[in-house]
Amino acid sequence: MQSSSQSPRSITLHNLVLIGFMGTGKSTISHMLQRELHYPVIDTDKLIEEQQQMTINDIFAQHGESHFRQLEHQLLADLVQSQPQHHIIATGGGLPIREDNQALLQQLGYLVWLDSPVDELYERISKHGHRPLLNQPNPEQAFTQLYQQRAPVYRSIADLHLNTHDLTFSEITYGIIESARFHFAP
Ligand code: S3P
Repeated sequence: MQSSSQSPRSITLHNLVLIGFMGTGKSTISHMLQRELHYPVIDTDKLIEEQQQMTINDIFAQHGESHFRQLEHQLLADLVQSQPQHHIIATGGGLPIREDNQALLQQLGYLVWLDSPVDELYERISKHGHRPLLNQPNPEQAFTQLYQQRAPVYRSIADLHLNTHDLTFSEITYGIIESARFHFAP
């Protein structure tokens, strides 16, 4: 049997990549992983905001979603090109949807899909989030529909599907680290 460390995906790029819908806690978990592993965090949304000197909301409002998606794609392509190692990468919820991003994500490292029941996610987002995609007459319905469209994509590329419902942040963090250890074990 071939060990996972011999596959081309995992020889060079030992990164943890968090994917998943809005509100799944990717940013929080990325920083908890950082505390344990001491790997740098790359947060694609934050990086885009820094590079563009604009908030995501302003990018959507002034240039539209497709421009934002192009920025996301370019950032991901540049990131893969730079061959980071031992990084934690938190991605925007829509980044895995573009087909040409999916192979890039898979080259980048171990893909963890953080997930929770959609009603829980909506509750979190509506309390704390200002997501441009929810500027709609019926944001809850739009949110649920988008989740249903995206879930199969996350499922199809993830190495680990972690339903975080009922788990503490520590349980999630250690769960990811232990699963990744098995994945990268020689
Ligand atoms: C988006 C999710 C956001 C951000 C942008 C678009 C999406 O990131 O990239 O608002 O399409 O789901 P989070 O997943 O961190 O909320």
